[in-house]
Amino acid sequence: MKAIELQEPGGIDNLRLVERPMPEPGRQEMIIRVKATALNYRDVEIARGSYHTAFALPLVPLSDGVGEVVAVGAEVSRFKVGDRVCATFWQRWVGGGFAMAESSYQRGGPIDGLLSEFARLDEQAAVLAPEHLSDVEAATLPCAAVTAWHALFTEDRLKPGETVLSLGTGGVSLFAVQFAAVAGARVIVTSSSDDRLVRAKALGAHDGINYRKEPDWGSAVLALTGGRGADHVIEVGGPQSFVQSLRASARGAQINVIGYLGGNEGAINPLDIFRRQVRARGIPVGSRESFEAMNRALVVNRLRPVIDKVLPWREAAGAFHHVEHGSPFGKVVLDHTR
Ligand SMILES: NC(=O)c1ccc[n+]([C@@H]2O[C@H](COP(=O)([O-])OP(=O)(O)OC[C@H]3O[C@@H](n4cnc5c(N)ncnc54)[C@H](OP(=O)(O)O)[C@@H]3O)[C@@H](O)[C@H]2O)c1
Repeated sequence: MKAIELQEPGGIDNLRLVERPMPEPGRQEMIIRVKATALNYRDVEIARGSYHTAFALPLVPLSDGVGEVVAVGAEVSRFKVGDRVCATFWQRWVGGGFAMAESSYQRGGPIDGLLSEFARLDEQAAVLAPEHLSDVEAATLPCAAVTAWHALFTEDRLKPGETVLSLGTGGVSLFAVQFAAVAGARVIVTSSSDDRLVRAKALGAHDGINYRKEPDWGSAVLALTGGRGADHVIEVGGPQSFVQSLRASARGAQINVIGYLGGNEGAINPLDIFRRQVRARGIPVGSRESFEAMNRALVVNRLRPVIDKVLPWREAAGAFHHVEHGSPFGKVVLDHTR
């Protein structure tokens, strides 16, 4: 079978199409024919060698994808041939606390990802894809969508009428906007672009703040909420942004620490956390239980992921470059059927 490997550290242009042996299922494993995969910022960082952890190469990239089950091991009971499944990001985190996750079992590094014609999945590391979604849409769910869901509904307890502040208009943040809006929350989104704020409002955001034009956007959130602040923050910006997120927070708010798009340098005064009695919670994607709960919500609310671009899977390098420099609005997906 064909697969695309990252062969040398330090470059998207070191992705190579290779021939690999056809995988065989172990007794609790299954083989999927990959239908579509999707990229996350993490994948770009791994490919260019800037991710916080260096993985052994060669590596098949991409944690996110969907496929059809074509073979099952003798003891597989959760799925059957013909099922359409999404892989989970954490191979061993079915439910409960993060201690169950086991860091060496992340798909797309250090475990091989899905950028291939076929892939082997443990039956515990997959969920049924929501029926109303196309393959291209379902492929986007395992990392960004589960992260947003796990933050708002598993590690946090979002209630109707509360305010969610979602930073930027990247993959995680747009899913957070959609989930928070259907949960009856007031949603405030920030962006570097007025045009993207308009598009985020079309997805359910109530208010938008341009963080380039309004560097003190934390105060702008307070002004929009009558001084109360946001109850939940999707914090993808990093330490400098965190200072503003703290300013924007209501008393007792939860700041979900997810990413560092604005860099990882900066200083935070813990007394500011104390003064507002804020909880800061690191969000490491989420468990399979979160993924399944999210899928139920997607189905009931007929939610669809936002797709920016779809490319044939052999043009993976172009997709990596688009995520790196193209400022996509929504997910970048690879179609494995073309
Ligand atoms: N902890 C986890 O489990 C987890 C899971 C997924 C992702 N992540 C991390 O979370 C972050 C977001 O991931 P993603 O996949 O959503 O990324 P993405 O799709 O690449 O997000 C890009 C967008 O982020 C916004 N942005 C850039 N710099 C920003 C800043 N300084 N402050 C606020 N927003 C900024 C921009 O929005 P505008 O163009 O609107 O300005 C940009 O379009 C990344 O750091 C990623 O590594 C972590």
